[in-house]
Amino acid sequence: MNVTIRPHRPGDSEVLRGFIHALQEAERAMHPSRLPADAVTEAYERSLGDRNAEILIAELDSAPVGFVAGWLEVDDDPLQTMTWRRHGWISDLFVAPPYRGRGIAQELLGALSDRLQAQGATRLRICALAVNAPSIAAFRRFGFTPFEITFDKPLRT
Ligand SMILES: CC(C)(COP(=O)(O)OP(=O)(O)OC[C@H]1O[C@@H](n2cnc3c(N)ncnc32)[C@H](O)[C@@H]1OP(=O)(O)O)[C@@H](O)C(=O)NCCC(=O)NCCS
Repeated sequence: MNVTIRPHRPGDSEVLRGFIHALQEAERAMHPSRLPADAVTEAYERSLGDRNAEILIAELDSAPVGFVAGWLEVDDDPLQTMTWRRHGWISDLFVAPPYRGRGIAQELLGALSDRLQAQGATRLRICALAVNAPSIAAFRRFGFTPFEITFDKPLRT
């Protein structure tokens, strides 16, 4: 298996939109909070550009099979130390279904980690739906441990 991780190029736009669309639909299948991918994909791709996000593409034998995106972030929580507020935020991670379970997500995370560290990050942060067992397994395998847990409870109206 010959996996290459390379920076996103302007010509990748269609591929990237396809990955964002598939990622959104994957999460929507797991949780009702997510909007239909058709309604959000284009604007979300633009927002990654607006934020100047680092976007990396995984290629297997020269065919794109996944992506990761992220940037440097500072939380606005005044109760946390700066060491924790400042982090490399990994906003998106996706590997196309036929290529999962082969460590491609680990390679994407490793490459983005190196880039964010070179920009000054001393820690990384990433988020998953609580029901998303494969992504939680992949994050743990990379060395992430749970930090904060968000609870949700719908109220009867
Ligand atoms: C999460 C995702 C990126 C993982 O990609 P991947 O290339 O398969 O991950 P890796 O092969 O690098 O890591 C796999 C780890 O997860 C585990 N894993 C893989 N598929 C799994 C599954 N279906 N169920 C449970 N664990 C799974 C592997 O066993 C491995 O852990 P281990 O080494 O402890 O055994 C991929 O499943 C995906 O794109 N999912 C849809 C999008 C998504 O949920 N993204 C994350 C939120 S942004």
